[in-house]
Amino acid sequence: MDLISIDSLSDGQIASLIERARHHFAGNRAGRSSQALDGKILFNLFYENSTRTLMSFATAAHRLGMAVVTLPVEASSVKKGETLEDTARTLNAMRPDALVIRHSENGSAAAVALIMDAHVINAGDGTNEHPTQALLDAAALVERLGSLDGVKVAICGDIKHSRVARSNAKLLPRLGAEVRLAGPPELLPDGVIPLSVDEAISGADVVMMLRVQRERLDNELGDAPGEYLGQYGLTAERLASAAPDAWVMHPGPMNRGVEIDGAIADDPKRSLIALQVEMGVAMRMACLELVAGGKD
Ligand code: NCD
Repeated sequence: MDLISIDSLSDGQIASLIERARHHFAGNRAGRSSQALDGKILFNLFYENSTRTLMSFATAAHRLGMAVVTLPVEASSVKKGETLEDTARTLNAMRPDALVIRHSENGSAAAVALIMDAHVINAGDGTNEHPTQALLDAAALVERLGSLDGVKVAICGDIKHSRVARSNAKLLPRLGAEVRLAGPPELLPDGVIPLSVDEAISGADVVMMLRVQRERLDNELGDAPGEYLGQYGLTAERLASAAPDAWVMHPGPMNRGVEIDGAIADDPKRSLIALQVEMGVAMRMACLELVAGGKD
């Protein structure tokens, strides 16, 4: 099977991914290892920059006994004009068991999945979806809160360009959460009821801040990044209006002093950022097991 969108997962699959991820989370902490996917090969194909997602898929695969091969896209035949489809056909002929792809075009992961025999996992396609990020966010919240039922989650920032927001807006309500999307009016997609960041954060149990994706912007914000924190970012004053002990999340990479005050991000009593990264490895283990088979 492929993992392209949250929509393709059943409620049962989502519940078992979260349970398996938490099982692996505990196992990784205890230093246990698994050979559930021993002998299988994972290809990593990242056309966009990545630290967390690339490294956590590779780590997850190794923890399951898989071998990982990463295409250095900058040094590949992509630079000689090869199309994505031809690259997929070429890689398919090498018969990997699974392939993780990140690409700047919406729909690219689905297009590659049509060509490949390997199980394809979407690690971010343009502004469309990033399902494993939403799944790891959900698992981190379940780890901390026990359940997402009735939990108010404010997702704030560049919603328009955020595949993380899109996947979370699909996933979290299925687990019982109330999702509020907010940001600068220029960075809210059509069809979203415009909420101010202050309105969204007020009384929220979880505040998820997003990076302003300057690489995808047509200068909608102008040239005044310095004003962003005061107008739309997570400051101590704004966080004070959230529920007492509200948790703060960020998928990374974060711009300190732009969408989030660095001191909040570093506060272990408030920030789930490190937990998100740690759960990321565990959730990707669960996702690799789901698509590529193998138990334990
Ligand atoms: C995000 C992404 O690439 O979609 N990062 C991530 O995977 N943790 C968010 C971003 O780039 O801002």
